[in-house]
Amino acid sequence: MSGSEGSAFVVVANRLPVDRIVAEDGRTTEWRRSPGGLVTALQPVLQAAEKGTWIGWSGDSSHIDPFTLDDMRLHPIPLDDEELRNYYEGFSNASLWPLYHDAVEQPIFRRRWWTSYERVNARFAERAASVAARGAVVWVQDYQLQLVPAMLRRLRPDVRIGFFLHIPFPPVELFMQLPRRLEILHGLLGADVIGFQQPLGAQNFLRLTRHLLDMKPKGHSVMVDDREVKVESFPISIDTASVEELAASEKVTRRAKEIRAELGDPRNIILGVDRLDYTKGIEHRLKAYRELLSEGRLAVPETVMVQVATPSRERVEHYRTLRSSVEREVGRINGDFGQVGLPAIHYLHQSYDRAELAALYRVADVMVVTPLRDGMNLVAKEYVSSRPDGDGALVLSEFTGAASDLKQAYQVNPHDLDEVKAGLLRAIQAPESDRRKRMRAMRRHLRGHDVKHWARGFLTALGVPETATAYNSGKIRETFTT
Ligand code: ADP
Ligand code: G6P
Repeated sequence: MSGSEGSAFVVVANRLPVDRIVAEDGRTTEWRRSPGGLVTALQPVLQAAEKGTWIGWSGDSSHIDPFTLDDMRLHPIPLDDEELRNYYEGFSNASLWPLYHDAVEQPIFRRRWWTSYERVNARFAERAASVAARGAVVWVQDYQLQLVPAMLRRLRPDVRIGFFLHIPFPPVELFMQLPRRLEILHGLLGADVIGFQQPLGAQNFLRLTRHLLDMKPKGHSVMVDDREVKVESFPISIDTASVEELAASEKVTRRAKEIRAELGDPRNIILGVDRLDYTKGIEHRLKAYRELLSEGRLAVPETVMVQVATPSRERVEHYRTLRSSVEREVGRINGDFGQVGLPAIHYLHQSYDRAELAALYRVADVMVVTPLRDGMNLVAKEYVSSRPDGDGALVLSEFTGAASDLKQAYQVNPHDLDEVKAGLLRAIQAPESDRRKRMRAMRRHLRGHDVKHWARGFLTALGVPETATAYNSGKIRETFTT
């Protein structure tokens, strides 16, 4: 079914841009911004589109009717307990997530997870088919929904289908481990354009079509029957103008001053902001910090570290283990090097609104981003664009997509602890002129390569430039009450 009055532009992602929160009274429902880079990037894109719809999970199992929020038409999809365990925590986050991130944790495969993955993908495809107007553009997002493009094509051959993978796409040798690898490839090939963060991801995918399906890719595309599928890279970014505007606001400027005072007005503030995820290299940076303190190359209270770790996927075993080991290490560092009222590290296992994060970015003399593997890492980009004073220093893992964009960062190999330590010291001790020069170049890059540029590039490849140019920067609110 397709309504002629349906949506001309449909985003399909595992999560809605907002999570449903039921207040303690059990009656009031709030919608709060969902975690992660996908939402940060896509929300302004959808807000700017004419008649745009976002299909995604509401964060719980209730059936909720479609509703409009902050210029977005939202279609919640419920997941029941079994689907939460098998589709979301299982196949998506215990098989695919670690496998696609270089297997930095051992991927787990369970046969029963697959059935659930297929069933939930079919539900998303059916909903997209019923919401999309004739000839609409449907943009499917990320590893949780890799079967949707082919399922949707079967239901609605008239729509243009894009797929974008927000995380890395692994090399052939790793992908070959995946049970159901053929189904995944066929699922993705249902799209007209398959987008990756990096050229290497696109190359890996094209190699696989040759290796597993005996296809003959040419340049950036491959033929599936008579249909051309484009396979290209489109590095994602942030809404640079709105990040810059927020960071320069009076409220954030005032709050930044308060935070510095609350931290005891130290000379060096080192900041980490991540979802609490084992791909982010949080343990590596903590260890580097501890060694620098223990060698006397850094000292408290002159230096202080703040680590914000957003709660994430808390029932998945890998994440539980990570949380214990990060918290143990934080305790150890504070036990060994803290003083009364002056901890060496402030650890915050909480979500914050954008203004509070912007204030943290503004006071951070050094931002430390050390993923072992990351599709992009928008935190690094947000930091750079949140410095209207033109100062600051970014220590950045070379294994992030962001490292290709932010070439002037102090880049490190997070596996090499000595290099992380040296990178931190370099950033702390760099002359102001060097720091400013680097930040200026990175800020300039992000102005020309913002999320609008990303969306336009992808949608143009999909053959819909008019949707792309309709984009203009939307305002992002944090909490909404219905
Ligand atoms: P990922 O998508 O893997 O989580 P990214 O760095 O690409 O990593 O994106 C993370 C996004 O989540 C950023 O936009 C960042 O501002 C946001 N974020 C990170 N930590 C928090 C937090 N504690 N509270 C609110 N938002 C956060
Ligand atoms: C990353 C993924 C997203 C995901 C987000 C938050 O950004 O690429 O698809 O939504 O993390 O993870 P969660 O499992 O909480 O949705």
